[in-house]
Amino acid sequence: MTEAEEDAVLELHGTEATQRVAHVLAGSLRAGDLLVLTGELGAGKTTFTRALGEGLGVLGSVISPTFVLSRIHRNDPEGARPGGPSLVHVDAYRLSSAEEVDDLDLEYSMDGAVTVVEWGRGLVEHLAESRVEIELERAVGAEAPVVEGSEEDLDPRILRIGFVGPRWREERTGPLALKLREAARH
Ligand SMILES: Nc1ncnc2c1ncn2[C@@H]1O[C@H](COP(=O)(O)OP(=O)(O)O)[C@@H](O)[C@H]1O
Ligand SMILES: [Mg+2]
Repeated sequence: MTEAEEDAVLELHGTEATQRVAHVLAGSLRAGDLLVLTGELGAGKTTFTRALGEGLGVLGSVISPTFVLSRIHRNDPEGARPGGPSLVHVDAYRLSSAEEVDDLDLEYSMDGAVTVVEWGRGLVEHLAESRVEIELERAVGAEAPVVEGSEEDLDPRILRIGFVGPRWREERTGPLALKLREAARH
C-alpha cells in the first residue's frame, strides 16, 4: 500500500480494539467485497477476520485454517445481519501463484459473500475490481517474542487500511475512516 492509498492508520491496543474496528468495517461491507490482509504471523489477521465474522453475523467460528485453504461461514439468520453476506475466509499462505488461487474457485462464492484473504497480497487482486487492503503489524516489530500463556499480548497492533477501486470511490470512505479511527480509540 502506498501512502496515497492509505485511508487510515490505527493503533489497536488489545483485541477489543480490533473487534470494535472490525465491527464498524463490517457494517459497511456487502456481498462481493474483497479484503486482502497482510501481516506477519501473529500480527492479528485471524483475530481481525473473526471479529469481522461477528460483525457480519455469520455461523461457525473463524479459526486459523491449517489444512483447509478456504472456509465458508454462512450468514446466520439470527445473527447481526440477517440476510446479509456470508464470509469466505481464505488463507493463501501456502499458495504461490494466481493460478493456484484460481483453483479455489472463489469467484463462485464471491457474489454472495465478503471474501477475506490472509496473505493475499499479490495473489488475489485479479478476483475483483475493488478491494480493501489491510496491513497489520505488531508495534514492537515482528521479531519480538510473544508472551506465552496469555490469550493476547500487550503489544499494540498498527492497522493500515486502504480502499481501492470504483466500489470505494462511490462509497464515502472519508466518514468511514473517521468512524474506524474512533472505534480504535474507544
Ligand atoms: N490488537 C491486538 N492486541 C493484542 N494482541 C492481539 C491483537 N490482535 C491479535 N492479538 C493476538 O495475537 C495473536 C496472534 O493473532 P492471530 O490473529 O492468530 O494472527 P495472524 O492470523 O496474523 O497470524 C493472538 O494470540 C491474538 O490474541
Ligand atoms: Mg492467521
